[in-house]
Amino acid sequence: MRYDRPFPLDTPLDTPRDRLVLALDTHDLDAAAQMARLLAEYFRVAKVGLELYCAGGFELINVLADCGYEVFCDLKLHDIPNTVGRAAKVIGKLRVSYLTVHAAGGLRMLQAAVEGLAAAHSSQIADESPNRTQLLAVTVLTSESEVSQNRLIQRIELAVEAGCNGIVCAAPDLTMATRFADSLICVVPGIRLPGDSIDDQRRVATPREAIDAGADLLVVGRSVTRAPDPVAAAESLHDHLRSSA
Ligand code: C5P
Repeated sequence: MRYDRPFPLDTPLDTPRDRLVLALDTHDLDAAAQMARLLAEYFRVAKVGLELYCAGGFELINVLADCGYEVFCDLKLHDIPNTVGRAAKVIGKLRVSYLTVHAAGGLRMLQAAVEGLAAAHSSQIADESPNRTQLLAVTVLTSESEVSQNRLIQRIELAVEAGCNGIVCAAPDLTMATRFADSLICVVPGIRLPGDSIDDQRRVATPREAIDAGADLLVVGRSVTRAPDPVAAAESLHDHLRSSA
């Protein structure tokens, strides 16, 4: 399972854990911290979405980072360029490794986010491990069943032109994404093990299908967090990745 394309991160993608992002979709800070501690050996990245962020996830970022996670702030920013740039600058000063913005916000907004993060990084006091936040542009939501190829290509091109580090897209969109953006990190949600409920997602894939299609990081939420035994579900996820490698 070695990564053989240029990757804008130092992080290797050798083990199932290296590739997995845990979506902590809850408003309960204690439950999120508990789930994160329980699953730290299975997931390298912990994702704080809008619900958790609004419930105080800002505070949780340090808790997750202290547990050894890379923190993914999935805020999907979409506003005027000035507002998004300033918000990105705030996030870039935290211990956050990934931040999302909507590619639908357009080139100027994406550039503002890139510049906001750059400003935050340059203001950090140089130490041995300065934090770097990677900017990911969300192309089309995995809950949307219809995707116009033109719209998808346009959003991928916007992400590249603006200088984003990666994109978030559904597994079926990866063919197009890897053609237009082969140096970007490809993050794929809508991941389900065979037999799992797809819930509100529409364009889903198994972990192996997503990796074979070119995914770098896989976002997994309910398949593990809502399972009767989340540790057993995480084990199954790792088994699936190891057995099909
Ligand atoms: O529970 P499930 O595995 O479906 O969770 C998917 C996670 O990925 C959610 O946190 C959702 O907000 C996020 N996401 C997504 N589709 C995108 C971008 C992010 O499902 N295009």
